[in-house]
Amino acid sequence: MKLAENKATLSFSNGSPSVDLPVYGGSIGPDVIDIRKLYAQTGMFTYDPGFLSTASCQSAITYIDGDKGELLYRGYPIEQLATQCDYLDTCYLLLKGDLPKEKVRKDFHKLVINHSMVNEQMHFFMRGFRRDAHPMAVLTGLVGALSAFYHDSTDINNPEHRDVAAIRLIAKMPTLVAMAYKYGVGQPYMYPRNDLSYAGNFLRMMFGTPCEEYVVSPVLERALDRIFILHADHEQNASTSTVRLCGSSGTNPFAAIAAGVACLWGPAHGGANEACLNMLEDIQRQGGVAKVGQFMEQVKDKNSGVKLMGFGHRVYKNYDPRAKLMQETCNEVLAELGLENDPLFKLAKELERIALEDDYFVQRKLYPNVDFYSGIVQRAIGIPVNLFTGVFTLARTVGWIAQLNEMISDAEYKIGRPRQLYVGANARNVKPVSER
Ligand code: CMC
Repeated sequence: MKLAENKATLSFSNGSPSVDLPVYGGSIGPDVIDIRKLYAQTGMFTYDPGFLSTASCQSAITYIDGDKGELLYRGYPIEQLATQCDYLDTCYLLLKGDLPKEKVRKDFHKLVINHSMVNEQMHFFMRGFRRDAHPMAVLTGLVGALSAFYHDSTDINNPEHRDVAAIRLIAKMPTLVAMAYKYGVGQPYMYPRNDLSYAGNFLRMMFGTPCEEYVVSPVLERALDRIFILHADHEQNASTSTVRLCGSSGTNPFAAIAAGVACLWGPAHGGANEACLNMLEDIQRQGGVAKVGQFMEQVKDKNSGVKLMGFGHRVYKNYDPRAKLMQETCNEVLAELGLENDPLFKLAKELERIALEDDYFVQRKLYPNVDFYSGIVQRAIGIPVNLFTGVFTLARTVGWIAQLNEMISDAEYKIGRPRQLYVGANARNVKPVSER
């Protein structure tokens, strides 16, 4: 971190001495005020629920300019990565800091593909779940359980263990997501095949059966790969911060990533793609495009509790660049499958058109986010709605690992331990039951 030219001075209206605070500049984006010594200097904490103005770490992985609608992984624009690289290139980039050269690229692809099988014992572990369990419940359990199967890569302070755990997690996640699906529908698990691409292998493990050869569609393979790239990292979002906080205690990488999976499940975060598709299906059942106006009135009514899922973002106050790329993929996939007239896609476009013109959304700078179209693409590919967040989990795993490893290697990292403004009862004595 480098000191910026200016510093901040905090003054108090009660005459307490003012305090100078250092300001640091990043490579791009807002400067930060260093408040680490504030408590020691003033006896006061800062108050920022939801981290609206708090940078919890320094990071060199992902940059978002929410006003411009810009997303960079290690400096590369998401639009270039999505059109010129594949997901495993992106994984290498996020983990190592730059895109791989030809030989390294081949080796990395091979390394990941060669680790895609899971310990056979995990098949028996799966049997403890109800068949109708939500795949995210199953995945939270499975990812946490990896630490029970791979003891030799659980020391977070050992860089070799972290490297091995990273490859294992990236390689095995598609296998686990496909297993969670197959278990739910009662079909046999499909073992991974090392001659297929990362996305192609996932498609086969999902939709292939031992009864016949599964032919991977290049359009669907590319679409899925793009979904993975677009979801690979997104700086300090809720699940990534969860992984960092969990990992900051020194727990093993599998446990920290399992915490991220649990967090991602929520509808305000990764669960939004599922919630968005459910919302579209609900409106469709009630009359489709004709009911959009009525639905929008509900969204704008604060007392209704209804939100336009797939819209709005804590950081983007402009069109989410991932949503644009996802809309492009949506067009390609629907055309490939002869679903150009898909009613839900039409409905989504109508909702978007109205929202982008409506004062409520314009004033609050609410734009479509990545989840607005990703559900439609996934549904067209044949992925069941309750597995959408599982696919997001698979893709985000690399981001979580890259962020976790960055934190562990950061000399300034400490166990995460926020403070609080206590508003409960003052100290008091317990009375005997008869006197309470
Ligand atoms: N529909 C209707 N109103 C909305 C929406 C929405 N989707 N999103 C925000 N608002 C309103 C909100 O009610 C508030 O209005 P007011 O100022 O009158 O109280 C204003 O816009 C600002 O919203 P906020 O809740 O303060 O913003 P936030 O930064 O805390 O929340 C969010 C961000 C993503 C949780 C929220 O926009 C949301 O719930 N969106 C729907 C869920 C969704 O699509 N989530 C996926 C996010 S992208 C994928 C990921 O990163 O996981």
